[in-house]
Amino acid sequence: MQTVTTVAVLRRQISLWKSQGERIVLVPTMGNLHAGHLALVEHARTCGSKVVCSIFVNTLQFDREEDLAAYPRTPREDLSALQHARADLVFMPEHEEVYSERHHVHTNLPEHPLHQQLCGQFRPGFFDGIVAVVARLFHMTDPDVAVFGEKDYQQLVIIKQLVRNLGLEIRIEQVPTQREDDGLAFSSRNAYLDDSQRALAPRLYAELVNMGQQVEAGERSYARLERQAADRLKQAGFHPEYVSIRDADTLEEARRGTDFIAILAAAWLGKARLIDNVLVRIS
Ligand code: PAF
Repeated sequence: MQTVTTVAVLRRQISLWKSQGERIVLVPTMGNLHAGHLALVEHARTCGSKVVCSIFVNTLQFDREEDLAAYPRTPREDLSALQHARADLVFMPEHEEVYSERHHVHTNLPEHPLHQQLCGQFRPGFFDGIVAVVARLFHMTDPDVAVFGEKDYQQLVIIKQLVRNLGLEIRIEQVPTQREDDGLAFSSRNAYLDDSQRALAPRLYAELVNMGQQVEAGERSYARLERQAADRLKQAGFHPEYVSIRDADTLEEARRGTDFIAILAAAWLGKARLIDNVLVRIS
Protein backbone atom coordinates (compact mmCIF):
# COMPACT_ATOMS: atom_id res chain seq x y z
CA MET A 1 0.00 0.00 0.00
CA GLN A 2 1.37 3.40 -0.98
CA THR A 3 0.88 6.53 1.08
CA VAL A 4 0.84 9.72 -0.96
CA THR A 5 0.58 13.33 0.19
CA THR A 6 0.78 15.35 -3.04
CA VAL A 7 -1.57 15.62 -5.99
CA ALA A 8 1.35 15.37 -8.43
CA VAL A 9 2.41 11.93 -7.15
CA LEU A 10 -1.23 10.79 -6.88
CA ARG A 11 -1.92 11.73 -10.51
CA ARG A 12 1.27 10.07 -11.75
CA GLN A 13 0.35 6.78 -10.07
CA ILE A 14 -3.25 6.90 -11.26
CA SER A 15 -2.25 7.66 -14.88
CA LEU A 16 0.13 4.73 -14.77
CA TRP A 17 -2.60 2.42 -13.47
CA LYS A 18 -5.08 3.69 -16.05
CA SER A 19 -2.57 3.10 -18.86
CA GLN A 20 -2.39 -0.49 -17.60
CA GLY A 21 -6.16 -0.84 -17.83
CA GLU A 22 -6.83 -0.72 -14.08
CA ARG A 23 -10.20 0.52 -12.79
CA ILE A 24 -9.85 3.08 -10.02
CA VAL A 25 -12.24 3.11 -7.06
CA LEU A 26 -12.17 6.04 -4.65
CA VAL A 27 -13.26 5.88 -1.00
CA PRO A 28 -13.17 9.41 0.48
CA THR A 29 -12.92 9.60 4.28
CA MET A 30 -11.99 11.99 7.06
CA GLY A 31 -10.04 9.24 8.87
CA ASN A 32 -10.69 7.81 12.35
CA LEU A 33 -11.80 4.72 10.51
CA HIS A 34 -14.36 2.33 11.97
CA ALA A 35 -16.30 -0.71 10.71
CA GLY A 36 -18.49 1.58 8.56
CA HIS A 37 -15.49 2.84 6.59
CA LEU A 38 -13.99 -0.62 6.30
CA ALA A 39 -17.24 -1.88 4.75
CA LEU A 40 -16.83 0.86 2.12
CA VAL A 41 -13.30 -0.33 1.37
CA GLU A 42 -14.44 -3.94 1.20
CA HIS A 43 -17.20 -2.99 -1.24
CA ALA A 44 -14.73 -0.87 -3.22
CA ARG A 45 -12.60 -3.97 -3.84
CA THR A 46 -15.52 -5.55 -5.69
CA CYS A 47 -16.02 -2.46 -7.93
CA GLY A 48 -12.60 -2.16 -9.58
CA SER A 49 -8.97 -3.22 -9.45
CA LYS A 50 -7.25 -0.39 -7.52
CA VAL A 51 -8.71 1.07 -4.33
CA VAL A 52 -7.67 4.61 -3.47
CA CYS A 53 -8.69 5.85 -0.04
CA SER A 54 -8.39 9.49 0.97
CA ILE A 55 -7.96 10.66 4.55
CA PHE A 56 -8.56 14.38 4.81
CA VAL A 57 -10.28 16.31 7.58
CA ASN A 58 -12.04 18.91 5.47
CA THR A 59 -12.09 22.18 7.42
CA LEU A 60 -14.71 23.62 5.03
CA GLN A 61 -17.41 21.29 6.32
CA PHE A 62 -17.01 22.27 9.99
CA ASP A 63 -19.07 25.20 11.17
CA ARG A 64 -17.49 25.40 14.63
CA GLU A 65 -13.82 25.69 15.54
CA GLU A 66 -14.17 23.41 18.61
CA ASP A 67 -15.73 20.70 16.51
CA LEU A 68 -12.82 20.79 14.07
CA ALA A 69 -10.20 20.80 16.85
CA ALA A 70 -11.94 17.95 18.70
CA TYR A 71 -12.47 15.78 15.60
CA PRO A 72 -10.63 12.51 16.32
CA ARG A 73 -7.47 12.03 14.27
CA THR A 74 -5.88 8.55 14.31
CA PRO A 75 -3.60 8.35 11.24
CA ARG A 76 -1.43 5.47 12.48
CA GLU A 77 -4.39 3.21 13.27
CA ASP A 78 -6.11 4.26 10.01
CA LEU A 79 -3.11 3.28 7.90
CA SER A 80 -2.83 -0.09 9.56
CA ALA A 81 -6.59 -0.73 9.12
CA LEU A 82 -6.38 0.19 5.44
CA GLN A 83 -3.35 -2.02 4.92
CA HIS A 84 -5.32 -4.84 6.48
CA ALA A 85 -8.35 -4.05 4.26
CA ARG A 86 -5.98 -4.20 1.23
CA ALA A 87 -6.35 -0.65 -0.03
CA ASP A 88 -3.81 0.06 -2.78
CA LEU A 89 -3.14 3.72 -2.11
CA VAL A 90 -3.90 6.18 0.67
CA PHE A 91 -4.01 9.87 -0.19
CA MET A 92 -3.32 11.99 2.91
CA PRO A 93 -2.85 15.57 1.76
CA GLU A 94 -2.47 18.72 3.87
CA HIS A 95 -5.15 21.42 3.67
CA GLU A 96 -2.97 23.65 1.44
CA GLU A 97 -2.47 20.86 -1.08
CA VAL A 98 -6.20 20.23 -1.54
CA TYR A 99 -7.26 23.87 -1.47
CA SER A 100 -4.42 25.23 -3.57
CA GLU A 101 -5.70 27.48 -6.41
CA ARG A 102 -4.07 25.00 -8.81
CA HIS A 103 -6.72 22.44 -7.95
CA HIS A 104 -9.72 24.73 -7.98
CA VAL A 105 -12.74 23.10 -9.59
CA HIS A 106 -15.38 25.37 -11.06
CA THR A 107 -18.54 23.57 -10.10
CA ASN A 108 -20.60 26.46 -11.52
CA LEU A 109 -23.65 25.01 -9.89
CA PRO A 110 -26.64 27.12 -8.94
CA GLU A 111 -27.42 27.16 -5.21
CA HIS A 112 -29.36 24.00 -4.59
CA PRO A 113 -32.21 24.23 -2.05
CA LEU A 114 -31.33 20.78 -0.70
CA HIS A 115 -28.06 22.20 0.69
CA GLN A 116 -30.10 24.37 3.07
CA GLN A 117 -32.48 21.64 4.28
CA LEU A 118 -32.31 18.88 6.91
CA CYS A 119 -28.67 18.85 8.12
CA GLY A 120 -27.97 21.91 5.96
CA GLN A 121 -30.51 23.96 7.89
CA PHE A 122 -28.60 23.38 11.13
CA ARG A 123 -25.08 23.40 9.71
CA PRO A 124 -24.75 26.40 7.39
CA GLY A 125 -22.17 25.85 4.65
CA PHE A 126 -21.79 22.15 5.49
CA PHE A 127 -22.84 20.73 2.12
CA ASP A 128 -21.08 23.48 0.16
CA GLY A 129 -17.92 22.38 2.02
CA ILE A 130 -18.54 18.74 1.14
CA VAL A 131 -19.23 19.51 -2.51
CA ALA A 132 -16.04 21.62 -2.67
CA VAL A 133 -13.82 18.83 -1.35
CA VAL A 134 -15.52 15.95 -3.16
CA ALA A 135 -15.36 17.81 -6.50
CA ARG A 136 -11.63 18.35 -5.93
CA LEU A 137 -11.02 14.75 -4.89
CA PHE A 138 -12.89 13.53 -7.98
CA HIS A 139 -10.79 15.83 -10.16
CA MET A 140 -7.51 14.75 -8.54
CA THR A 141 -8.26 11.02 -8.56
CA ASP A 142 -10.31 10.70 -11.74
CA PRO A 143 -11.97 7.52 -10.42
CA ASP A 144 -14.22 5.16 -12.37
CA VAL A 145 -16.24 4.49 -9.22
CA ALA A 146 -16.60 6.29 -5.87
CA VAL A 147 -18.08 4.66 -2.77
CA PHE A 148 -20.14 6.40 -0.07
CA GLY A 149 -22.14 5.16 2.91
CA GLU A 150 -25.91 5.41 3.27
CA LYS A 151 -25.39 6.67 6.84
CA ASP A 152 -24.78 10.18 5.45
CA TYR A 153 -27.81 9.88 3.22
CA GLN A 154 -28.24 13.56 2.36
CA GLN A 155 -24.55 13.75 1.44
CA LEU A 156 -25.04 10.73 -0.84
CA VAL A 157 -27.99 12.32 -2.67
CA ILE A 158 -26.11 15.62 -3.05
CA ILE A 159 -23.04 13.86 -4.46
CA LYS A 160 -25.16 11.95 -6.97
CA GLN A 161 -26.61 15.31 -8.06
CA LEU A 162 -23.09 16.77 -8.32
CA VAL A 163 -21.98 13.94 -10.59
CA ARG A 164 -25.06 14.40 -12.79
CA ASN A 165 -24.78 18.20 -12.88
CA LEU A 166 -21.10 18.14 -13.83
CA GLY A 167 -21.62 15.30 -16.32
CA LEU A 168 -18.87 13.24 -14.66
CA GLU A 169 -18.39 9.64 -15.70
CA ILE A 170 -18.10 8.34 -12.15
CA ARG A 171 -20.35 5.58 -10.90
CA ILE A 172 -21.51 6.25 -7.34
CA GLU A 173 -21.82 3.12 -5.25
CA GLN A 174 -23.65 3.21 -1.92
CA VAL A 175 -23.13 0.88 1.01
CA PRO A 176 -25.73 0.22 3.75
CA THR A 177 -25.11 1.67 7.20
CA GLN A 178 -23.02 -0.56 9.45
CA ARG A 179 -24.36 -0.89 12.99
CA GLU A 180 -23.31 -2.05 16.44
CA ASP A 181 -25.23 -5.10 17.75
CA ASP A 182 -27.74 -2.81 19.50
CA GLY A 183 -28.49 -0.90 16.27
CA LEU A 184 -26.40 2.26 16.82
CA ALA A 185 -24.81 3.32 13.53
CA PHE A 186 -21.01 3.40 13.59
CA SER A 187 -19.76 6.98 13.67
CA SER A 188 -16.60 8.75 14.77
CA ARG A 189 -18.82 11.00 16.88
CA ASN A 190 -20.01 8.08 19.06
CA ALA A 191 -16.73 8.61 20.94
CA TYR A 192 -18.28 11.76 22.49
CA LEU A 193 -20.99 9.69 24.30
CA ASP A 194 -20.58 8.82 27.98
CA ASP A 195 -21.77 5.42 29.24
CA SER A 196 -25.38 6.37 29.97
CA GLN A 197 -25.71 8.29 26.67
CA ARG A 198 -24.19 5.32 24.84
CA ALA A 199 -26.85 3.06 26.38
CA LEU A 200 -29.60 5.45 25.21
CA ALA A 201 -28.19 6.17 21.73
CA PRO A 202 -29.76 3.15 19.88
CA ARG A 203 -33.20 4.67 20.61
CA LEU A 204 -32.69 6.99 17.65
CA TYR A 205 -32.51 4.11 15.17
CA ALA A 206 -35.30 2.26 17.01
CA GLU A 207 -37.60 5.28 16.50
CA LEU A 208 -36.82 5.38 12.78
CA VAL A 209 -37.42 1.65 12.41
CA ASN A 210 -40.71 2.05 14.21
CA MET A 211 -41.75 4.86 11.85
CA GLY A 212 -40.72 2.74 8.88
CA GLN A 213 -42.91 -0.10 10.09
CA GLN A 214 -45.89 2.23 10.42
CA VAL A 215 -45.33 3.59 6.90
CA GLU A 216 -45.05 0.03 5.57
CA ALA A 217 -48.33 -0.79 7.34
CA GLY A 218 -50.06 2.03 5.43
CA GLU A 219 -49.75 5.05 7.75
CA ARG A 220 -49.56 8.21 5.61
CA SER A 221 -49.91 10.98 8.23
CA TYR A 222 -46.24 11.80 7.87
CA ALA A 223 -46.29 15.10 9.78
CA ARG A 224 -47.86 13.35 12.76
CA LEU A 225 -45.36 10.49 12.68
CA GLU A 226 -42.49 13.02 12.58
CA ARG A 227 -43.89 15.01 15.49
CA GLN A 228 -44.55 11.97 17.64
CA ALA A 229 -41.07 10.55 17.07
CA ALA A 230 -39.43 13.91 17.87
CA ASP A 231 -41.50 14.16 21.08
CA ARG A 232 -40.54 10.64 22.17
CA LEU A 233 -36.86 11.36 21.50
CA LYS A 234 -37.09 14.56 23.56
CA GLN A 235 -38.70 12.68 26.43
CA ALA A 236 -35.91 10.12 26.30
CA GLY A 237 -33.25 12.85 26.65
CA PHE A 238 -32.27 13.66 23.04
CA HIS A 239 -32.39 17.14 21.52
CA PRO A 240 -33.72 16.40 18.05
CA GLU A 241 -32.94 18.85 15.22
CA TYR A 242 -35.27 17.17 12.78
CA VAL A 243 -37.15 13.95 12.07
CA SER A 244 -38.30 13.98 8.47
CA ILE A 245 -39.97 11.68 5.97
CA ARG A 246 -38.71 12.35 2.44
CA ASP A 247 -38.65 11.01 -1.08
CA ALA A 248 -35.51 8.84 -0.99
CA ASP A 249 -34.43 9.78 -4.53
CA THR A 250 -34.78 13.57 -4.34
CA LEU A 251 -35.14 14.24 -0.59
CA GLU A 252 -38.18 16.37 -1.36
CA GLU A 253 -40.96 16.01 1.19
CA ALA A 254 -42.69 12.67 0.79
CA ARG A 255 -46.21 12.76 -0.56
CA ARG A 256 -48.97 10.20 -0.51
CA GLY A 257 -47.82 8.55 -3.75
CA THR A 258 -44.08 8.54 -2.98
CA ASP A 259 -43.02 4.90 -3.13
CA PHE A 260 -39.39 5.10 -2.04
CA ILE A 261 -39.11 6.77 1.34
CA ALA A 262 -36.18 7.95 3.46
CA ILE A 263 -36.89 8.62 7.12
CA LEU A 264 -34.08 10.80 8.41
CA ALA A 265 -33.19 12.27 11.79
CA ALA A 266 -30.50 14.29 13.51
CA ALA A 267 -30.44 14.61 17.28
CA TRP A 268 -27.98 15.74 19.89
CA LEU A 269 -27.22 13.44 22.78
CA GLY A 270 -24.84 15.23 25.13
CA LYS A 271 -21.91 16.41 23.03
CA ALA A 272 -22.63 14.03 20.15
CA ARG A 273 -24.72 15.00 17.15
CA LEU A 274 -26.13 11.70 15.89
CA ILE A 275 -27.68 11.22 12.46
CA ASP A 276 -29.38 8.16 11.08
CA ASN A 277 -31.95 7.06 8.52
CA VAL A 278 -33.99 4.13 7.30
CA LEU A 279 -35.15 3.49 3.75
CA VAL A 280 -38.56 2.03 2.98
CA ARG A 281 -39.90 0.84 -0.37
CA ILE A 282 -43.67 0.89 -0.50
CA SER A 283 -44.98 -1.74 -2.88
O1 PAF B 1 -18.42 11.37 4.67
C1 PAF B 1 -17.32 11.90 4.96
O2 PAF B 1 -16.50 11.35 5.72
C2 PAF B 1 -16.99 13.27 4.40
O3 PAF B 1 -18.10 14.09 4.37
C3 PAF B 1 -16.32 13.20 3.02
C4 PAF B 1 -17.24 12.61 1.96
C5 PAF B 1 -15.05 12.38 3.12
C6 PAF B 1 -15.95 14.61 2.54
O4 PAF B 1 -15.06 15.24 3.42
